[in-house]
Amino acid sequence: MIGFVFLLRLLVSIRPGAEALDNGLALTPTMGWLHWERFMCNIDCDKDPENCISERLYMQMADMMVKEGWREAGYEYVCIDDCWPSHQRDAQGRLQADPKRFPGGIKKLAEYIHSKGLKLGIYADVGKNTCAGYPGSLGHYETDAQTFADWNVDLLKFDGCFMDWTLLGEGYTNMSTALNQTGRSILYSCEWPLYEWPFKKPNYTAIRETCNHWRNYNDVDDSWSSIKSILDWTASHQDTIVPPAGPGGWNDPDMLVIGNFGLSHDQQESQMALWAIMAAPLLMSNDLRHICPRSKGLLQNRRIIEISQDPLGRQGFCTIKVDNFEVWERPLSHKRLAVAVLNRQETGGPRGLVIRAVPGWKICDPQCNVTQILPEYRELGVQPPKSKVVLSVNPSGTALVTLTPISSRFNMYELQKQETIL
Ligand code: GLA
Repeated sequence: MIGFVFLLRLLVSIRPGAEALDNGLALTPTMGWLHWERFMCNIDCDKDPENCISERLYMQMADMMVKEGWREAGYEYVCIDDCWPSHQRDAQGRLQADPKRFPGGIKKLAEYIHSKGLKLGIYADVGKNTCAGYPGSLGHYETDAQTFADWNVDLLKFDGCFMDWTLLGEGYTNMSTALNQTGRSILYSCEWPLYEWPFKKPNYTAIRETCNHWRNYNDVDDSWSSIKSILDWTASHQDTIVPPAGPGGWNDPDMLVIGNFGLSHDQQESQMALWAIMAAPLLMSNDLRHICPRSKGLLQNRRIIEISQDPLGRQGFCTIKVDNFEVWERPLSHKRLAVAVLNRQETGGPRGLVIRAVPGWKICDPQCNVTQILPEYRELGVQPPKSKVVLSVNPSGTALVTLTPISSRFNMYELQKQETIL
């Protein structure tokens, strides 16, 4: 019963002593698009103009975000990852975009993105070089922060390659200060703990004070084994990483790869459900110009996004592993609970878990209204503590439900109301 002990510990634990980074941003998990997993470091615009890292790619994604309902669904940031800059800084020591692939420059690109009602993210590195070998920001934090502010950039993903690990804290903190001093609101996405874990347990109090979200674990790739490894790492470190998450600062399990090639539809549903339960940034890395309607529908599912963006801002966690099911639960505002039941058995057909086996089901006394969101939307109605509802889950799929407790007093009132009407 890892779940019960952990749940108790979490309930009595003091809310994060640490204050979030005080820039007023990321009060709910960031939503948007980030190029890395899908487009990587493709810089060959002669051979592959459609997919290379160039201003055209971000402009086209922004166009799609407006045209295809992504912006309306909440996806807001269009983010550049590695491989955008020129290999040389300019005469004033500033980073500059590769002139061939970004002929208009980043400022112009930001203007375009803003004209669509969206925001622009950029990428840099705390060390000497970026992971792909482009110039890093070490020794240039103020200059680079100011350059990004002058370009009207809205988010910085700050990587941790090519850096002495003992200086990571100092580097990430100095860049946070430098961004703040520009006076522009720039959301700060860090990878500090990911690079520190091999050497020491990161100080999440400091991280939360410094960053709006932070990567803890390996890069996601387009495979179910990658998603599983991220979930496993998260569950096995949840007592360290869940308490510090909240409005202004979130754990980042990396990009959504929904809409690509490697996940079955059930697995895509699992990623979407679990990322919402984990209060993770929803940064898609896919090709919005070519995406199947089913994946699009899943990524734009309003009921799942509502869980992700719940204003209470508590990260969910794994409460029980039983019979090859994992149950993950996230407390929501108005005393509601989101529950994801993941079927980890990858053989056979759909398997059922009776809803009263969910540890959080205890809030359903005297009763709960149950809404199923995945695999399909169904109102399961008002259920008593001894409910016989069984959630059926496909192999590597997830059933996602919300529980809304109904107090007896409320029912009496409802009953009286009905009687009066009658
Ligand atoms: C690291 C990061 C990735 C991506 C690449 C770019 O691996 O973790 O998310 O930014 O660098 O080189």
